[in-house]
This record gives sequence, C-alpha cells and structure tokens, in this order.
Amino acid sequence: MAKARTQFVCQNCGTVHTRWAGKCDGCGEWNTIVEEDPMGGIGAGPGKVPKKGRPVTLTSLSGEIEEAPRIPTGMAELDRATGGGFVRGSAVLIGGDPGIGKSTLLMQAAAALSRKGQRVIYVSGEEAVAQVRLRAQRLHAAETDVLLAAETNVEDILATLAEGKRPDLVIIDSIQTLWSDTADSAPGTVTQVRTGVQAMIRFAKQTGATMVLVGHVTKDGQIAGPRVVEHMVDAVLYFEGDRGHHYRILRTVKNRFGPTDEIGVFEMSDRGLREVANPSELFLGERNEKAPGAAVFAGMEGTRPVLVEVQALVAQTSLGTPRRAVVGWDSSRLSMILAVLEAHCGVRLGSHDVYLNVAGGYRISEPAADMAVASALVSSLAGLALPADCVYFGEVSLSGAVRPVAHTAQRLKEAEKLGFARAVLPSASPDLPKGTAGRWSEIESLPDLVARIAG
Ligand code: TYD
Ligand code: MG
Repeated sequence: MAKARTQFVCQNCGTVHTRWAGKCDGCGEWNTIVEEDPMGGIGAGPGKVPKKGRPVTLTSLSGEIEEAPRIPTGMAELDRATGGGFVRGSAVLIGGDPGIGKSTLLMQAAAALSRKGQRVIYVSGEEAVAQVRLRAQRLHAAETDVLLAAETNVEDILATLAEGKRPDLVIIDSIQTLWSDTADSAPGTVTQVRTGVQAMIRFAKQTGATMVLVGHVTKDGQIAGPRVVEHMVDAVLYFEGDRGHHYRILRTVKNRFGPTDEIGVFEMSDRGLREVANPSELFLGERNEKAPGAAVFAGMEGTRPVLVEVQALVAQTSLGTPRRAVVGWDSSRLSMILAVLEAHCGVRLGSHDVYLNVAGGYRISEPAADMAVASALVSSLAGLALPADCVYFGEVSLSGAVRPVAHTAQRLKEAEKLGFARAVLPSASPDLPKGTAGRWSEIESLPDLVARIAG
C-alpha cells in the first residue's frame, strides 16, 4: 500500500487542508488545524464483495410507511423541541457549552423514559458511574432502572449495548471522549469523533434504538466540536443559556422528522432542570416599567409567542467614534435601524453611544423586533418612558416603511394574557383578532413611530 499522506483537518468545521495554517479558511477560526491520518477510520478493507441492492419506486411504498414512531419523554419542553419525542432508530445530537446542563437534561429524560418502561442506557465517558449516580440522586432519578456504563472505546460500547435486551434509548456523553481501535488519530480529533459517531448511528439504524449524542461546543480547537458531525445525524439540538442566568433554551437547528424553529425552555434549579411552560413570565420577571429606553417585544419562537424586554441606552459620547454595543440581537440590524432613524426621521445619533440589550440574556432572531428596538432607542434618546402596558412588533424597511409580520393574532393574544392592553403594530396587519381593529396603534412608517413617542 502506498504510504498515506497526512492531512490537516480543522477541528471546528472539518475542512481538510493540504498544509498546516494558523487560520482555517472554512470557518475563520484560529489554531484549530491539526494533523491527521486520512486513512484512519476507513475500515471496509480489501476483499469485500459488493452486494447488489434493488431500488423500489416511490408509489410502491405508498400506504406502507406511517409517521415515524416516537418515544415521548413526557417532559413537554423536550418533546416540543424534538417535534413530539425521540424518533426510534434516529440519531440526535445535543450540543452546548460545557457546564450548561446537557448531562443533567439527559439524565432527567432517561429517568422519565425509564419510569415509562423504556430500556435506557446512559454511557458516560466523562464521569465515573458513581459520579453519574450522585447526579441522578440529586435529580431524584436514582430509583429508576436507567442502566449506567462508563466507557469510551467504541468497540467496548457496542459490545456493552449488544448485551442483554435491546435498548430503546442510548445516551452517549460525550462524542468527544469516543475513540475507536480502527482510527489512528488521537481521541477528540475529527477522525475519531466521526468514526465513533458513525458506529453509534449504525447501531441505531440496525437496532431501532434512539441514539442521543452529547457534544461539547469547543472554543480552542484542541478537540473536535459538534459541528463536524451535524451532517451525519437526523436531528441537531443546541442547549443554550447564559451562565449568569438560570434559564436554558433547547433550540432545534436541524430535524429530519419535525420542525426546526421550536424551542424548549428550562430553568436550572438545585434539583435539576425545571420546565418553563410560560417563558414570557420569566423574561419579563425583572422589569422596571418606569425607565426610559425599555420596550416589550411580542416575539415568536416557532409556534409559541414569547414576550421579552428590549433595553436601549443612548448617551452623549466622549469618544471620537461613538460606541455601538449589542447583546442578544444582530448588530448589523441595529446599524440599519440607526441609519433609518437618521435618514428618514431626523434623529441624530452620530455623537451618541448606543447600547442595546435583550433582557434575561435571551437572543432575538426575528426582524419583527425592529419596531421594539426603534421604540427603545427613541424612548432613551428622548428620556421618556414608554407606556408600561404596551407591546411592540413590526419589521422596518430601509425606506422607513413598517411592514406587517406573521402571527399577529398569536402575539396579541399572548400580550393580553400577560396584562398588556395596548400594542404598536404595522398598519394593514393581517389576521388581527376579530372586533379589535380599533384598539391598536397602527403605524405606517418609522417617522410615525418617532412622532408618537417623542410627541
Ligand atoms: P451538567 O449537566 O454537568 O453540564 P454539561 O453536561 O452540559 O457539561 O451541568 C452542570 C451545571 O449544572 C453545574 O454547574 C451544576 C449545575 N446543576 C445545578 O445547578 N442543579 C442540578 O441539579 C444539577 C444536576 C446541576
Ligand atoms: Mg456533562
């Protein structure tokens, strides 16, 4: 066999380079490129006789295939994020920063499923069995039949899983600790992680068990991140949150069997994760209603409305170039709103620092937040507090026009439920709740909004 040339693989995104470089062209990360053996992990070997398959027509399948069979955990927020429960025979990746609560979430899910009579195996490569049991005790999950194993070698794990009755759900915590005899490179490299994950996915497809894989988001590039296996699994969920806050969001970014815009909301307590059925109450918890610069945004996360406070601080700058700092929103979107305010509304912000923050450490991704952001900015600049019982939503275009957004009725319903009697929204919004048309402040353009706030 010809001598295998080594290759250089980015541990963050998996891009292959022919020579080492300080920065990866693929993802722009620094110091993430590591030398690997390209043949490591390719195990088919010579002499395999090819097997002929027989393609089938789509029509011949009609009527045979039903909805994917699922195992709901009974944890409503987790089931919502997965689209109704874990699908049998599928592989799910749960990514997140170290310490965010992935192991906690999965131990709780394992216990819930075990109580429902499912056979669950929790394979921990990071903690000893005794440690996992300690956590389970704290979560009141120790009295369940969840099976624990502390292994990291892929072949050993597969042998363990083959033992006894077939499992319904297998949790691998985490993919970065997996290593296989068939791959030459060091544990934690892209080759090792991919080889291990591949073997686990094959096990899931063959046995019909659900494979839940935990992946730590890595910052330094010394070990491979979960992104390098995203394309291999059926669903990808990220567990997010701010260390300074107790709440955690489980966000679906890929799902072959369900929607990708759902979130599950949890709160970390000393007894593990508590489900949060009404996130708006959590995000609006610490409001100071009389302060200028705060506007409540009626947003949507998938099918669920979420109310959250947008806070702005606009202050005279003492620097040559004014500062713009954003937490929880898109900074280029903020620049756009500032430009529209200057160009179309005569609001001069060139000599002001602008700070924008979304309360509770929450992240908004909807353009519908434009109107809430603009309102918060104008309110701060004018030093006038906005009405405490009013919500804001609507998209702002470069021309200064305000455009309607989807799910108007749901946003308004959630706002009413939480005691907000008023709303500032785009004119010509479709699906306004019947008989309420006169109750809302309908805005056509950003200058309208500025005139309304600054009086
Ligand atoms: P963990 O699930 O170990 O995180 P990950 O697996 O994502 O690395 O959770 C770690 C943090 O959660 C740790 O800082 C302690 C905290 N925690 C609680 O606050 N309450 C609890 O009941 C548990 C089990 C953990
Ligand atoms: Mg963990």
